[in-house]
Order: sequence, then structure tokens, then C-alpha cells
Amino acid sequence: MKIIETIKDMKFFVQQAKEKGLSIGLVPTMGSLHEGHLTLMRQAKKECDVVVVSIFVNPTQFGPNEDYGKYPRDLTGDSEQASKAGVEVIFHPQVQEMYPKGYNSFIEIDGITQKLCGLSRPGHFRGVATIVAKLLNIIQPDKAFFGQKDAQQVLVLQRMVSDLNMNVILEIVPIVRERDGLAMSSRNAFLSEEERGAALILYRSLQLAQQLVAKGELNVEKVKHQVIMNIQGEERAQIDYVEIHSYPLLENVDVIGEKALLALAVRIGNTRLIDNIILEG
Ligand code: PAJ
Repeated sequence: MKIIETIKDMKFFVQQAKEKGLSIGLVPTMGSLHEGHLTLMRQAKKECDVVVVSIFVNPTQFGPNEDYGKYPRDLTGDSEQASKAGVEVIFHPQVQEMYPKGYNSFIEIDGITQKLCGLSRPGHFRGVATIVAKLLNIIQPDKAFFGQKDAQQVLVLQRMVSDLNMNVILEIVPIVRERDGLAMSSRNAFLSEEERGAALILYRSLQLAQQLVAKGELNVEKVKHQVIMNIQGEERAQIDYVEIHSYPLLENVDVIGEKALLALAVRIGNTRLIDNIILEG
């Protein structure tokens, strides 16, 4: 497995692969790899000849008071794991390589970014869309793989690819969870043992909502209220948002229709965790 650090070398590798007629799968990540990321890589390996994983903690998607500085970084551990998953190349550029002096171009997606994480993390999706567009341009993959863990990110990127007529297929992989239900996340590493226990409240609240819907409760406010009460019962948890929107359009709705997205962002101590479920009314 190769680790490539410059755009020039990455483009050269891509050109050679294309000349050989090989299909390319891209898995964009910020590293600190876990089983969620590895599932994306294995899926990419099944569907494409060559798998490129990008590892880049993208500064433009972090707000000024967020955890960019302390975001976990472990290139050595990541390389071992990616190599075992059958990855051919890790693209690991430095910040100056992706955003050199004078850099001034950004991609904004309207509408669906004005809610959920877009509201609580202003500028976040502008940074995500920009870096993903850059990676797609550099690596020119046939397919790019993303996780449903970041449900709104998937919708934003699907919008971008469709609106800007990009030549890539986005493949979406279901949420990978720990045995007890906690959605895998690089940020789980920040949790103390007590907080790790408290973090289960996210998944339990999603399950509670699913049970309510299964029993016929389709009123959005009532389901939201139960979820909020449930989370508030955990003293270490502080709600950032609990929202139910139509899926995939993310419209405001009063009643859970055919498909609705229940999305949560909850702080456990200083760590902000997200999770979601698609409710079927
Ligand atoms: P990161 O949080 O590292 O996640 C990389 C990819 O792994 C994303 O598509 C994310 O949805 C997926 N993923 C993370 N945890 C998962 C889980 N438990 N189950 C399934 N998939 C999971 O998301 C980002 O990085 C960045 O925003 C990025 C797209 C790389 C742009 O910088």
C-alpha cells in the first residue's frame, strides 16, 4: 500500500490506473479509522478495482470553537488497518497542499444545509462540500463511498453531485454500530468510561422512537417529546438538537409519513455525538 502526499503524485497514480482500465473507488475520511470506515473500504473493494482512501482532517469544515486541533490523528495505525482492508493508496495531503496561500473557492449548497448540523455548525457543509469536490476532482473515482451515520452529509453531497453534474456514483453504507448500539465514531475515543455508558442514550432514544412509530404514533411533536424526555433522563447528556424531517427532502412535517429522518446531536460531557434513524410511518 502506498501513502501519497501530493496532488501531483495522486493524479499520476490515477492516470496510470485509468490507462490500465481499472475502476477507482474513493473513501474520503478524516482518519482515526474504525470499523465504520473499514466497512466502507471493504464495500469499495468489492465494487472497484482500486481503492483510494483519503485521510485529511479538513480545517474548513470545523468551526472556530470546535475540535479541529484535538481531532484524533493516527496515520500509523490507520495505515495498518487500511492495508488489511485491501486499500491500494492512502492520500494524505498536508493542509497547505489542499489549501495553499491565496485559496479562495468554496462550494455552498442551499436549502438542506439550513437545518440540523448546518444550523448548529455554521459553515460545516460548505467545508465538507468543498473538500469532497476537490477530492473527486483529484482522484476522479468511478464511485465514492459514504456512511449513513452522517445522513445530512450524504444528502448534501448527493445534491452537489447532481446539481453540478459530477461524474461519480455515490454509494451509501448503513450505520455500523458497536455491539451495544453506539454508532462508531472517531470522536468516541474522547469519551471517559462513564461517558461511554451515557452515550448509549442516543441509540436507545432512536429505538424508543422506532417502537413508538411501530405502535402507530405518527405525530412528530409527540415522538420528539418522548425522545427529548428520554435523553434528558441521562444527566451527562445535553441536547444540541432532536429533529424529525421528511426523508430525503428534509422538509418540516407534522406527521411521520412514508419515510422520516430522526436525527440527534447530543453532547456527552465535551463530546458532541450524532446518530440517526429512518422512521417508516
Ligand atoms: P469521517 O467522520 O472520518 O467519516 C468518513 C466516512 O465514514 C463518512 O462517509 C462517514 O459517514 C463514514 N462513517 C463514520 N462512522 C460511520 C459508522 N459508524 N457507520 C458507517 N459509516 C461511518 O465524514 C467525514 O469524515 C468528513 O466529513 C469527510 C466526508 C471525509 C470530508 O472531510
